[in-house]
Amino acid sequence: MAIITVDHLRKTYGARVAVEDVSFSVEEGEVFGIVGRNGAGKTTTVECVAGLRTPTAGTIDLDVGPDGGAGADLKEQVGVQLQECSLPDKIRVGEALSLYASFYRRPADWRALAADAGLDLRASFATLSGGQRQRLSVALALVGSPRVAILDELTTGLDPQARRETWELVTRIRDRGVTVLLVTHFMEEVERLCDRVAVISRGRVRAVDTPAGLVARAGGEQRLVFRTERPLTAEQVTGLRALPEVTSATVEGGDDAGEVTIAGTGDLLSAVTAVLPASLMRGLRMERTTLDDAFLALTDPSYGPSHAPSQEES
Ligand SMILES: Nc1ncnc2c1ncn2[C@@H]1O[C@H](COP(=O)(O)OP(=O)(O)OP(=O)(O)O)[C@@H](O)[C@H]1O
Ligand SMILES: [Mg+2]
Repeated sequence: MAIITVDHLRKTYGARVAVEDVSFSVEEGEVFGIVGRNGAGKTTTVECVAGLRTPTAGTIDLDVGPDGGAGADLKEQVGVQLQECSLPDKIRVGEALSLYASFYRRPADWRALAADAGLDLRASFATLSGGQRQRLSVALALVGSPRVAILDELTTGLDPQARRETWELVTRIRDRGVTVLLVTHFMEEVERLCDRVAVISRGRVRAVDTPAGLVARAGGEQRLVFRTERPLTAEQVTGLRALPEVTSATVEGGDDAGEVTIAGTGDLLSAVTAVLPASLMRGLRMERTTLDDAFLALTDPSYGPSHAPSQEES
């Protein structure tokens, strides 16, 4: 069941097109990722979903659920952690949380939220590290007991340890049944957290799929890369290319022998070593299509229908 349905969303600022045409739906209980290059329109999209910006065109439907109905307020259904967030330096964690809690009819237990986020209630905002500030902003997003949490670049600027702690926090939020809409630039984050992900490029959705589905779309290919002591003979190259597992074999020229890249599918290594003894290969490594490759393929400026970026025809 879709909890959020975005249909042909468009948002312009004067002549600038922030979001050209975005449609996707988010199922209840999933972690739905939004990825795309800087300026692709991710923040604008989630701000429209949160009701913080008014779409120029298109619709956003939020399923308010059984206890929703007429009295339900969008603000109570959706908790937002914004990409740019700051609080007064002197405000303490506990003060910020209790203040935010007072805005809601059914606030969550904010002390429990702070404990879950590993925050000291007496610490003032100015003394918090980047990771602590991010976890505070997540706690503030959850203080109204929302059914949907929107998290925009939650882990940007955090060290690897703080990032992992924040991922665990997101997993616990999901486990409590909150639907999460997550904007991120980290493919590892997508792989670890997201059930599905929308790839946005220049204000349009290029793909919506599971992380594994996106990798498969990008070819799901394997590559064997190695050097040889002596250059390969023409017969060896022809023999490699004739293998059913091999889709391409390229040899980069070099001073000694060049670097050989063989791309293909199936049991590529066994097939190749049947033609070319492993003893001839130096520095053999195996590469696979990654989510990074898939992301780059889908957001390449030369990919997809060309249109002038960010400029409205007048
Ligand atoms: N208030 C605004 N007024 C004018 N242009 C805006 C405004 N907000 C966003 N834009 C423009 O809309 C485009 C999309 O911005 P948006 O912030 O949604 O991108 P983003 O995908 O979140 O990027 P990033 O990864 O850098 O956070 C950008 O070209 C941006 O400059
Ligand atoms: Mg953004």
